[in-house]
Amino acid sequence: MNVYDSARMEDVLKPLGYEMTDGPDQANMVILNTCHIREKASEKVYSELGRLKNIKKVRDENNEMIIAVAGCVAQAEGEEISRRAPYVDMVFGPQSYHNLPEMIAKAHRAGDGKGRGILMTEFPAEDKFDHLPDPVKPEGYSAFLSIQEGCDKFCTYCVVPYTRGAEYSRPTAHVLKEARQLVEQGALEITLLGQNVNAYHGDDGQGGEWSLGRLIRELAEIDGLERIRYTTSYPAEVDDDLISAHAEVPQLMPYLHLPVQAGSNRVLAAMNRNHTREQYLEIIAKLKAARPDLALSSDFIVGFPGENDRDFEDTLDIIRQVGFIQAFSFVYSARPGTPAATMDLQVEKAVANERLQILQKLLGDIQTDFNQSCIGKEFPILLEREGRNPGQLVGRSPYMQPVHVDAPLDFVGQIHDLKIVSARPNSLGAQLVDGERKRA
Ligand code: 5AD
Ligand code: SF4
Repeated sequence: MNVYDSARMEDVLKPLGYEMTDGPDQANMVILNTCHIREKASEKVYSELGRLKNIKKVRDENNEMIIAVAGCVAQAEGEEISRRAPYVDMVFGPQSYHNLPEMIAKAHRAGDGKGRGILMTEFPAEDKFDHLPDPVKPEGYSAFLSIQEGCDKFCTYCVVPYTRGAEYSRPTAHVLKEARQLVEQGALEITLLGQNVNAYHGDDGQGGEWSLGRLIRELAEIDGLERIRYTTSYPAEVDDDLISAHAEVPQLMPYLHLPVQAGSNRVLAAMNRNHTREQYLEIIAKLKAARPDLALSSDFIVGFPGENDRDFEDTLDIIRQVGFIQAFSFVYSARPGTPAATMDLQVEKAVANERLQILQKLLGDIQTDFNQSCIGKEFPILLEREGRNPGQLVGRSPYMQPVHVDAPLDFVGQIHDLKIVSARPNSLGAQLVDGERKRA
């Protein structure tokens, strides 16, 4: 989401004459687009700001360089940032980046000061998407499209409902228009984005609403759109319509990020996840019945308050049962203002770290096994760019594995059926199949 947001900020800034630089050394303005999800991410902002302050001191005698903090740390800690780093000029949350021109004008009017003190962290009534320019050309052949923002789920560990605000779905006409533009500009693959993407219920302009399943079916009608993905989903919102879209829409990739976080019912309840382990497994069974080649990835939190050895065993067990081929896993991080931060029985860091290592080893083994099991199979591979070695191209499998293949340069930007011939922990090697012809 932050990658997408940064690209949209770039879209807003281009008409003002701004261009990307290779690093802060050459920049007139530096925007840190920040993440507040765990303490480590949050704290990184302050060390980065210290670095920028020094660059500014060395380089910028007239104090012209603008230092800005955007994103969820800005949203959550606006005043705190100005206090801890008074030299920061602009602080603005994820709902405000369409106001960048106005903020920059204000910054310039404020003169060459140290810390121009501009703060924008309210949730404005207007739809920021209505005020953003059309996206400029996506980089490469795979594009992001934000269709939903915010979260009403209030998992007890999570800051997102506070930093990103309530759930909001973009109207269907806007999404379709942006998707068509992206395809016209060369995108073969679109990943639909939302903090809670499967809670999508976009206004269709005729008094009705489309679910995510319906939206995917309509997107699949766009000529030239070869691949559709969506992320991130909330298990309790996976409905039958979405499940049947997985059966009916061939462009929908057989790979789904469906975070379960933990495998113990006690912990899931304490997390306020709104489903049991059994219900999660049932959703997976239905999805796999609809699309037998579906593979899953997940997020995990270990060391949630009250998690004991048996609970942790349940998490390992659900990992073995589902066989997640990819995952992001984290030690629980207490976030100020969330209910879990003040729960009893906080787990010791050392215990949580040990559990994380065990969990990551298991996940790594499953990923390696899955990659090995791909050898000998043929997959459609979206060839995205040249590789490091001469004559080599790099692409993505339906399961998001990077794939290396020796192939002609003009295959870049096309999808080819390739035979997988080797596997590494994080990538695959492939060969052209005899008689392979262009697909896209
Ligand atoms: N501590 C650790 N991990 C967290 N996540 C969200 N909040 C926390 C927290 N307080 C993880 C969840 C979520 C992912 C984006 O970040 O696993 O799915
Ligand atoms: Fe956070 Fe996701 Fe839970 Fe929403 S559903 S509160 S974004 S973990």
